[in-house]
Amino acid sequence: MNTSFFRQRHWLGVLALGSLVLLSGCERPPQETVQHGYRGTGMVQVYNPRIQADVIAVNQVPAPQPPASPDGPKAGAIYQNVKVLGDLSVGEFTRLMINMTAWVAPEKGCNYCHNGANFADDSLYTKVVARRMVQMTQHINTDWKTHVAATGVTCYTCHRGNPVPKEVWFTADSQPYGSNFMGNKTGQNTPAGSVKLASLPYDPFTPYLLGSEPIRVNATKALPTSGGQGESIQRTEKTYALMTHMSASLGVNCTFCHNTQNFGKWDGAPPQRVTAYHGIRMARDVNLAYMEPLTDVFPSNRKGELGDVAKVNCATCHQGVNKPLLGVSMLKDHPELAAYRPYTAPAPAAPDAAAAPAADAPKQ
Ligand code: HEC
Ligand code: HEC
Ligand code: HEC
Ligand code: HEC
Repeated sequence: MNTSFFRQRHWLGVLALGSLVLLSGCERPPQETVQHGYRGTGMVQVYNPRIQADVIAVNQVPAPQPPASPDGPKAGAIYQNVKVLGDLSVGEFTRLMINMTAWVAPEKGCNYCHNGANFADDSLYTKVVARRMVQMTQHINTDWKTHVAATGVTCYTCHRGNPVPKEVWFTADSQPYGSNFMGNKTGQNTPAGSVKLASLPYDPFTPYLLGSEPIRVNATKALPTSGGQGESIQRTEKTYALMTHMSASLGVNCTFCHNTQNFGKWDGAPPQRVTAYHGIRMARDVNLAYMEPLTDVFPSNRKGELGDVAKVNCATCHQGVNKPLLGVSMLKDHPELAAYRPYTAPAPAAPDAAAAPAADAPKQ
């Protein structure tokens, strides 16, 4: 009897079992692939229709309400404490209040932001935050068209019926087990959802979506002696962690934005990489200019373990798809969120020349 034959069979069995265990950790087929880059570049996107169905379900938009008349008195002239939406007609203002309620606090209703006895009162923090959120939304739609195009965003893009958007981030404690006994973890080696359970730095957000550290890996010159050394291992790992977050948030592979023949090169990379470049800067701007300054307004139960406010990353808007809400624009039904709309009281009426002709007017 040939024992080595059996030994081989045995090892084949172990191998088969091994691959079965490995495969069961992956996504069950079928998978679908879609060509993304030029033919021959192998730049395909891989989708799993089963997972895709859930993602599509959370990215449906609610039916729009019929528009309100822009005529009639302005909200700024009628109400007492309207600072950012005063240029809307009372009808448009009320329509937006009803929609904001549906988008952000459908269960609690108007009183999530309002003292029901006095709507002008600003004592609830939620109203103070919401006023700033209106300005933030208008800012994104006005000044970040390089990213959101004409599609734009509304409160619903992030909130989807929840007071706290489903996807937010806080600065993570980089040494959750202390630094003496366990050594310095430098924010590593704790598989986290933020980086798809990879053993990459689990907070790629603080350096890039709040700070502006370079997002770089590649050397741009061939030889170390000519200045061609690449970035440090730490920076490389952080860059990959951010890229993993970006891919996961949009539900795409690296080839959606890169010709992987050279990750650093912009020539030959899909145009989506440029959109993403602006997206990184937009998220950073929103976090620095709108979210961080609200830190003292939020109660402590809304803050992270280091006392910071919840912040925005790619997933806050995208929620698993390359265009939030599958590219459907809700903004077109809400032009009030597409531009700044503060109220300026009309100048006092000039004396009516027709009613009181000037003394030296020629007699008829
Ligand atoms: C998500 C928070 C939020 C919800 C929910 C909300 N509002 Fe408001 N409301 C605001 C903000 C913010 C302002 C101030 C707007 C400004 O300064 O331009 C405001 C102002 C008002 C005012 C003007 C009060 C005054 O005299 O200054 C009225 C009236 C009003 N809301 C009605 C409603 C009604 C009715 C509902 C429910 C259908 C509602 N709001 C739900 C945030 C909210
Ligand atoms: C780019 C994403 C984004 C958009 C767009 C956005 N928000 Fe927010 N909003 C956030 C984040 C992040 C928070 C912080 C979460 C928290 O409350 O801890 C927040 C918090 C809030 C809160 C406080 C809720 C609470 O319970 O603490 C209110 C109210 C709110 N937003 C209203 C609005 C309104 C109204 C709009 C549209 C005019 C809007 N938001 C648009 C991201 C967004
Ligand atoms: C949604 C678009 C997008 C996706 C998906 C994406 N990247 Fe990137 N990547 C970018 C952008 C934009 C930059 C440049 C960022 C900057 O300069 O601010 C970049 C930079 C990089 C760099 C640094 C290159 C250099 O100049 O040194 C590497 C490496 C990289 N990405 C790898 C990856 C990997 C690996 C994946 C998949 C896990 C991936 N990227 C997925 C958009 C993307
Ligand atoms: C405030 C919400 C918001 C945030 C935050 C956001 N995006 Fe977007 N993004 C959008 C919208 C809206 C579009 C669709 C624009 C359009 O219709 O062309 C978009 C489009 C894109 C596209 C183009 C997709 C395509 O198919 O052409 C890329 C790539 C992208 N975003 C990457 C990112 C990355 C990476 C981040 C995080 C660094 C990010 N986005 C953060 C709202 C957002």
